[in-house]
Amino acid sequence: MLHKNPAMSKKDCKLILALDLPDKASALDMLSGLSGGLQWVKIGLQMYLKYGAPFVEEVARMGFKIFLDLKLFDIPNTVASAVKSVSDLPISMLTIHTSAGEEAMRAALDAAGSANKDLMLLGVTVLTSFDESGLAKTGVALPPPMQVQLLAKLACESGMKGLVCSPLEIQMLRKIIPPETVLVTPGIRPAGSSKDEQKRVMTPSMAADAGANFIVVGRPILKAQDPAKAAGDIIAELEA
Ligand code: C5P
Repeated sequence: MLHKNPAMSKKDCKLILALDLPDKASALDMLSGLSGGLQWVKIGLQMYLKYGAPFVEEVARMGFKIFLDLKLFDIPNTVASAVKSVSDLPISMLTIHTSAGEEAMRAALDAAGSANKDLMLLGVTVLTSFDESGLAKTGVALPPPMQVQLLAKLACESGMKGLVCSPLEIQMLRKIIPPETVLVTPGIRPAGSSKDEQKRVMTPSMAADAGANFIVVGRPILKAQDPAKAAGDIIAELEA
């Protein structure tokens, strides 16, 4: 319907489970019940800071592809060194903040390219927790959508091949970024499920139709009575 990326169809949009759980035992328990249909898992700061590289390796040994969501933000040399530090882990995606700047993104890409050619760096633009006044208080005068566009363009010009964005930004971004750019979108809620504190959401198929390559879903699966069914239903919706 609205595929701005000619290289993909809705079927190509993949589910990533946000593994936001309080401890390793419940995470591994959850994953063992989901293996089979689900391919991708997002490990964020909460679990990585507590359990580190061995946990990432354990999840990879279970057969999952890993998106390590560390949202790195520092001077170019430190960002590049951090990318090098994690690039020998079995990870396929890693986030960095685009507002760290062009030099930091280029340094991160060089570091990833020389250490792990299969690792895709994803740029984070404006955190969706910001509204216009919150952003203005940090000294950014542009309204959030314009700042998102500015940072997305900068990221693509710096060589970034993927971005994390809100589902409501997909169509706007698809108009201004190279068509092959990978878009990964949280803020997804299957029809009829609780929004939790997410304010602006799309269903899996709406996000895929808008041009997302990956959708990130946490609580609708983690808190479901039957997480395997919840994940399976989302995958079926994407493949329908
Ligand atoms: O549970 P839920 O589906 O809301 O989880 C979404 C995941 O995506 C969480 O790991 C959250 O931190 C992340 N995320 C988000 N909104 C953003 C960026 C990341 O919900 N703008």
